[in-house]
Amino acid sequence: DKVTWAIDAAELNGYAHFMEKEIFEQPAALENSMRGRFSEDGSTAKFGGLNLGPVDFRQIDRFAFLGCGTAWHSCLVAEHLIERFARVPVEVDYASEFRYRNAPLSGNPLFFVMSQSGETIDTLGALREAQRKGYKVLAINNTVGSTIAREADGGIYQHVGPEIGVASTKAFTSQLLIGAMLALHVARMRDMSFADGVEYVNALKSAPNLVRKALEQAGHIKAIAQRLAKYNDMLFLGRLSLFPIALEGALKLKEISYIHAEGYPAAEMKHGPIALINELCPSVFFAPKGEIFNKVVSSMQEVKARKGPVIAIITEGCELPEGLADEVITIPDCHEAVLPIVATIPVQLLSYYIAVARDCDVDKPRNLAKSVTVE
Ligand code: G6P
Repeated sequence: DKVTWAIDAAELNGYAHFMEKEIFEQPAALENSMRGRFSEDGSTAKFGGLNLGPVDFRQIDRFAFLGCGTAWHSCLVAEHLIERFARVPVEVDYASEFRYRNAPLSGNPLFFVMSQSGETIDTLGALREAQRKGYKVLAINNTVGSTIAREADGGIYQHVGPEIGVASTKAFTSQLLIGAMLALHVARMRDMSFADGVEYVNALKSAPNLVRKALEQAGHIKAIAQRLAKYNDMLFLGRLSLFPIALEGALKLKEISYIHAEGYPAAEMKHGPIALINELCPSVFFAPKGEIFNKVVSSMQEVKARKGPVIAIITEGCELPEGLADEVITIPDCHEAVLPIVATIPVQLLSYYIAVARDCDVDKPRNLAKSVTVE
């Protein structure tokens, strides 16, 4: 096994599981992913290992992001932020699908493969396929010297240290952060102003503290988890940049608690998943303040009308109509680029505490491997 994390040397430091430890390590992990990666004028992000100068980088007219599992979710967030802030089209594909579907590629794309371990065989296969076609492939990766890191044409290391829990936590939020920094980097080469760049950088720098604040809800979330542990089906609903976080919340819950869960864009609920709603199927809603808050509230009302328990994740200081949510979790107000990171914390904690309440082997869930090196 090329991944030679010294598991024995890693200590739990008083935590019950590596997953719990890694969830609480996230403020420090985010600091490590950012360190030394902002320009001196504080208006953009810089990366030492892209092996592409600004002139080459500017020629890129689209990005393709490939990954598996949790990494695929971080690709979806990167897509949202790059398209939103840099206005460059992004395509995201499962690495396993990309390597066989012979996708038509036009223009001058730059590929990114996203992989915590750097050893996932499908991601490596996708990297080789893109390179074989003559495209440059950069890697966003946490494992120095991994196969993907060695074969990529350049990339960005996550620097979050070994992740032991099979369910990815700190590696995921670090990928979200790097995606957000990449969006900034590309945006500042195009239309984003100096002032907006400075605001964005300051927002990213505040991410560790905002995550710390979100983690303060752990006790409250643990109590909610104990009430939810009895269910066997759950929906996670979010929109825009939080749709991938809904997918991630559902994946975490499936992986470690064996509860059937699905993530959907909140507005898609009426096209199918609503048929599942009853008093036995709770829905976790991401309803941050902003343009779609009222839309998400109407989706909640549809669930409530069908007796579905509602768990609402809302921005601190915001209010929901009386009696709508059975459980409310708040997250601190933040910049759009940081929102996916901050919104991930409650669903990590929720799945962790539900799994613990169900007596599951959190760090080594059944049938799963930390890194999948077979097809
Ligand atoms: C496995 C792990 C997941 C991970 C995925 C991709 O399925 O259990 O947690 O997201 O592989 O791993 P990678 O190392 O490529 O990010």
